[in-house]
Amino acid sequence: MEVDSVDETLFPIAVLIDELKHDDVSLRLNAIKRLSTIAVALGPQRTRDELIPFLDESIDDEDEVLLALAEELGNFVGYLGGAQHAHLLLPPLETLAAVEETTVRDKAVESLNKIVLVLDAKQIEEYYILLVKRLSSGDWFTSRSSSCSLYSNLYQVVSPANQEELRKSFTQLCTDDTPMVRRAAAANLSKLTKKFSKDHVLSDILVLFKNLAADDQDSVRLLTVDVLIAIAETFNPKENKTNILETLKNLSNDKSWRVRYMIADKFVQLAKAVGEEIIKEELISTFVNILRDNEAEVRTAACTQIPGFCSLMDQDSILNLILPCVKNLVTDNSQHVRASLATEISGLAPLLGKQHTIEHLLQLFLQLLKDESADVRLNIISKLDRVNAVIGIELLSQSLLPAIIELAEDKQWRVRLAIIENIPLLAGQLGKEFFDEKLGSLCMSWLGDPVFSIREAATTNLRKLTEVFGVEWSKQQILPKILLMSTNVNYLYRMTTVFALTTLAPVVNQQVLSEQIVPTLIQLSQDAIPNIRFNVCKSLELVIPLLNKFELGKILNEQVIPRLNTMVEDADGDVRFYSQKALMVNSGNEVAVA
Ligand SMILES: *[C@@H]1O[C@H](CO)[C@@H](O)[C@H](O)[C@H]1NC(C)=O
Ligand SMILES: *[C@@H]1O[C@H](CO)[C@@H](O)[C@H](O)[C@H]1NC(C)=O
Ligand SMILES: *[C@@H]1O[C@H](CO)[C@@H](O)[C@H](O)[C@H]1NC(C)=O
Repeated sequence: MEVDSVDETLFPIAVLIDELKHDDVSLRLNAIKRLSTIAVALGPQRTRDELIPFLDESIDDEDEVLLALAEELGNFVGYLGGAQHAHLLLPPLETLAAVEETTVRDKAVESLNKIVLVLDAKQIEEYYILLVKRLSSGDWFTSRSSSCSLYSNLYQVVSPANQEELRKSFTQLCTDDTPMVRRAAAANLSKLTKKFSKDHVLSDILVLFKNLAADDQDSVRLLTVDVLIAIAETFNPKENKTNILETLKNLSNDKSWRVRYMIADKFVQLAKAVGEEIIKEELISTFVNILRDNEAEVRTAACTQIPGFCSLMDQDSILNLILPCVKNLVTDNSQHVRASLATEISGLAPLLGKQHTIEHLLQLFLQLLKDESADVRLNIISKLDRVNAVIGIELLSQSLLPAIIELAEDKQWRVRLAIIENIPLLAGQLGKEFFDEKLGSLCMSWLGDPVFSIREAATTNLRKLTEVFGVEWSKQQILPKILLMSTNVNYLYRMTTVFALTTLAPVVNQQVLSEQIVPTLIQLSQDAIPNIRFNVCKSLELVIPLLNKFELGKILNEQVIPRLNTMVEDADGDVRFYSQKALMVNSGNEVAVA
């Protein structure tokens, strides 16, 4: 199309019309996504007079195109020549908010919620309130459902008289015949609660909440847990929380587990909202019930709340009421429940203090460390530092070390990995001697692990240990064993030597570098396996700057460079490539030095 020759007054709306009528949906989609460009070309006046009315008439397309349009319109105020024209965007968005496809409606609602914030009182009065009313009383449940999301942003910007009207029409939505509408109302009620005055929460919301919480659809009832929290947060601790207590009891004993799950999942938030008194009188026993719920999903969710909720109660109650449940959960027949418990149980240690942790919790940790499910074992290991902080490393290691050592050979490599990652922490606290005796050989054995990720983590572990215990220790305890592996018949071990030396090089001193690391690398650069040879080149690339740093130019020039120069002629392509690369690092350095 010869765009340049099109009549100025027709372009680009004619082009747009063409594209929006095209058979190819991707072209139509593209046209919508270019709307802002077109609006700029048209200028504000023609955007208002021609583009918007045209769009309003042409809303009859694939959902994909409508979705894009609903989004574009939300960002369109700036192209109309000012917020005083923003209401012009309402008609197309009203249509989009009533279509069948949920994603389109949601996007239209989102855009309307943006636009209402820039409308002035007159625009709201003349256009927006009417739009919300029309949608709220529409024939189709789709429009009534969309309308539910529009109240909370609108409520705060209208007059008291209009607020009263809005409360009335929202009340109708809460008792709509269609469950989808009641669901949308319930989902938006907590947001609205925060906008209401306390008097109106008492006079209006409370009734709506109680009715929805007793709805015959569990998908509606479960949404009222958030409303319960919002209502409780509105009241201060001394006030009428008793208003909601009975409904709270009903929801936590609901016959549908999905409702009880919502209670379990938000228990800490709920507890904080209702406050100390109700926690003591009511919620502790409720929590005990949900920890014993007969649905595993509910127990799993309840476990995530254990430390948070226990931090709101006194120690005796934890010991007498919660701990017996926790003991049962350690042997729960669902592994998901046990895995959830394993993540959280260590959070009880700071709450119980040293003595009770030793007396009650250590035994449970041990049981979970030996659980048949790898996830459970993994979760408990990952949180051991919290227990360490309470009882100290000595006790922790005495009681748990045998189990940890067993896990170091766990069949699941992720469990082994979790153990390795905790080793530097243990090492720092155990001290050199204890460490060498109990864990030293373990750390070396991981270097020969069949799983690459474990061997990789094992070399990183050695570097961290060197940082903890110092180079001298590394020289005595680690290096001899690594160097020994360099002559192993299994090439994987020789490869591990290369990796381990590469990882250690940056943290050792000049002597170790020149007397142990470099000679071993030079020796391995003549290995029969090309894979080893080129990994040595990669390693040397990293070692060369270190040699410069330590002013070991003699070793560099007499041993490393000649060796690399030979490797440039290697039969293997990778070896040739990586040796050249290493040499380039060196020449780069020389240039820099000169
Ligand atoms: C309002 O209800 C709609 C429809 O159910 C939902 O998509 C939206 O997330 C709700 N808004 C809030 C704040 O929960
Ligand atoms: C407590 O609730 C009762 C009845 O629900 C009500 O009459 C009373 O005004 C409320 N008190 C406060 C402090 O909100
Ligand atoms: C709680 O449940 C009981 C028994 O189903 C019912 O009679 C009562 O009205 C419910 N209370 C509230 C506040 O919904």
